[in-house]
Amino acid sequence: MEKFPKDFIWGTATSSYQIEGGAALDGKGPSIWDAFSSIPGKIFEGGTGDVACDHYHKFKEDVQLMKNMGVKAYRFSIAWARVMPTGKDTVNEKGIQFYSDLIDELLKADITPWVTLYHWDLPLALQLEDDGWLGTAIVDHFAAYANLCFERFGDRVKNWITLNEPWVVAILGYGQGVFAPGRTSNSEPYLAAHHLILAHAKAVNLYRENYSYQAGQIGITNNCDWREPLTDSQQDKAAAERALEFFLAWFADPIYKGDYPAVMKERLGERLPNFSAAEKEMMLGTSDFFGLNHYTTMYAAHDDGTGKNQNVYGNGGISEDQAVDLSLDKNWKLTNMNWAVVPWGCKKLLAWIDERYGQPEIIITENGCAYVDELVDGEVDDQERLDFYKGYLQACQQAISEGIKLKGFFAWSFMDNFEWASGYSKRFGLHYVDFETLERTPKKSALWFKDAIAQNSADV
Ligand code: GAL
Repeated sequence: MEKFPKDFIWGTATSSYQIEGGAALDGKGPSIWDAFSSIPGKIFEGGTGDVACDHYHKFKEDVQLMKNMGVKAYRFSIAWARVMPTGKDTVNEKGIQFYSDLIDELLKADITPWVTLYHWDLPLALQLEDDGWLGTAIVDHFAAYANLCFERFGDRVKNWITLNEPWVVAILGYGQGVFAPGRTSNSEPYLAAHHLILAHAKAVNLYRENYSYQAGQIGITNNCDWREPLTDSQQDKAAAERALEFFLAWFADPIYKGDYPAVMKERLGERLPNFSAAEKEMMLGTSDFFGLNHYTTMYAAHDDGTGKNQNVYGNGGISEDQAVDLSLDKNWKLTNMNWAVVPWGCKKLLAWIDERYGQPEIIITENGCAYVDELVDGEVDDQERLDFYKGYLQACQQAISEGIKLKGFFAWSFMDNFEWASGYSKRFGLHYVDFETLERTPKKSALWFKDAIAQNSADV
């Protein structure tokens, strides 16, 4: 049986808006997701995060369930508007108390907290007053919020993630408009992304300058699918490479190399903002680990202008800018999100990152799948999810045995939750949540995960 390295980090992940509920409780301010989900037609069947999994009240039970699984780490996010209701200046002590209690509960259970500062729920006031991620003020506001978190939680939290998936914020929030704040544009995504990267960099610099005594680590989580060339032609190979650059290198190159990829500069011209020399210096090296969310794979082909897959979700950027045509293999199995299950794509992506960024330590901060789960006699037989995790974790094992420095794996998600525009129609959890009674039940995959953790192997 192939084993993971001894110190491999086995974790599960969630985010604030998707699980907490308590949307207006104890002084919490509204976020752009509270506003967005209140607009008719934006969320499947009108779902909102008002109650979600009610984790705000049930967090002790949830920590206990994690402990039962034997997870070593839990990745959650802080709702900025819960601790700073307007995103700046005023601190809400009751919000601070909530996260403080959660952190204490985790430590008592021997579970290491991994804290994401921003998982998309921007305080609404910052959107209305400062133009959200389009304005320049956000950079300082984010740094001040990060400072508050380091100051209040950094005595116990040693693993920080500044941003979750800035690609999604930029493309789905400002390009396609299917996520908050719901804007559509072919230039705003590049501007929003620019400020996201600068905000990340400023927060990391601040952490390193003022909180080094806390002896923690800090990084960013980016998302990327694998892009496999459709054919062996030079054109398709270049298209696949270009797709990965527009997807992942857009955010990772500034941090690891100090600037945007050349191909983006060439193709976008003035729509891509420039970094000043001082900004380049501030950004460089601002991630102690390479946080990666990975779910799926698509074929990439050169788009000769007749491409049929323009603007589909997962296109890795404004598709016209990339000239890449994406497609699926009809033999690939699909999840309930219609995402293809391709474990070897995960291994190839890890190798691509390893090579391009000089062997960084990589943490998979999300991987998982949605299926139509049913609770029958108190049990959920989600064999497909079990197979999915086994396949992806075996691909991870192979990557490690080939020398890639993969240090951890967080399953998305600990429990079923609010799946953004899909509302409650997509179940990603290791635990089933009955959204009427809010009762949690470990699925078959959670029991498998527990064994895998105990044996430190995917071959179980
Ligand atoms: C990620 C996101 C999570 C979760 C997951 C499944 O993009 O960070 O919040 O929703 O996808 O769609």
